[in-house]
Amino acid sequence: MGKSKMPKKLKVVISAGPTREPLDPVRFISNYSTGTLGVTLARIHRAMGHDVTLAHGPMPLPPNLKVKTLEFETVLDLMKVLSKVVPTCDVLYMVAAVSDFKPLVAEQAKIKKGSRFLNLSLVQNPDVLKHLRRYKDGKVFVGFSLESKNVYKHSFKKLREKGLDLIVAQKVNEKIKPFGHVSIDATVIDSAGHRDEFRKVSKDKLARYLIRRVAKLRAL
Ligand code: CTP
Repeated sequence: MGKSKMPKKLKVVISAGPTREPLDPVRFISNYSTGTLGVTLARIHRAMGHDVTLAHGPMPLPPNLKVKTLEFETVLDLMKVLSKVVPTCDVLYMVAAVSDFKPLVAEQAKIKKGSRFLNLSLVQNPDVLKHLRRYKDGKVFVGFSLESKNVYKHSFKKLREKGLDLIVAQKVNEKIKPFGHVSIDATVIDSAGHRDEFRKVSKDKLARYLIRRVAKLRAL
């Protein structure tokens, strides 16, 4: 980390993995997130001696991760657990893949087949990062963005609207699926709009780069 003023025991909060929004006691709306990048960030920060809390959705955790863990299922759970730990942290990596919509009603009983069509009414979930903005102060917030079109433009807008220091933008479409242990194309954008482009980078290498950028921001 060179001569950066990164404190020895940095308090790092990482959210990772998918959310699940129940439709009934059997089914849910979710996404393909595996939590790989979040776990990688947790592992490296832990190895650097930092105090790491990993808030994770339903996903298997590797053995011997040796970080504090908090579980969430829905977006509201995620908001609740992060609201407890973010106020006193130094760095937040919001890697969790959040469901923007949830069923208007989570049925108490299993939905029966009944007729040929089933209409689902969905309602927007709150934006967790926008909610957490009130705790920002001098903390470093890193967000992640998936876009199919105009990746830079939309991702920079998200950085601004969510009060982030960095955003990691990735393209996603039918052919490009950045989930799991795969190398990815990513663009890291800072609050001045400067971008660093990565082609086919491993999640390990990307995580190490992000940690270096965070260290620099802490030293400002
Ligand atoms: N995020 C959040 N709360 C939400 C949705 C997203 O805090 N309700 C966070 C994600 O964890 C991520 C960042 O915001 O760090 C961007 O998420 P993304 O899904 O790319 O964008 P959205 O803000 O959901 O916008 P859109 O889906 O319209 O692209």
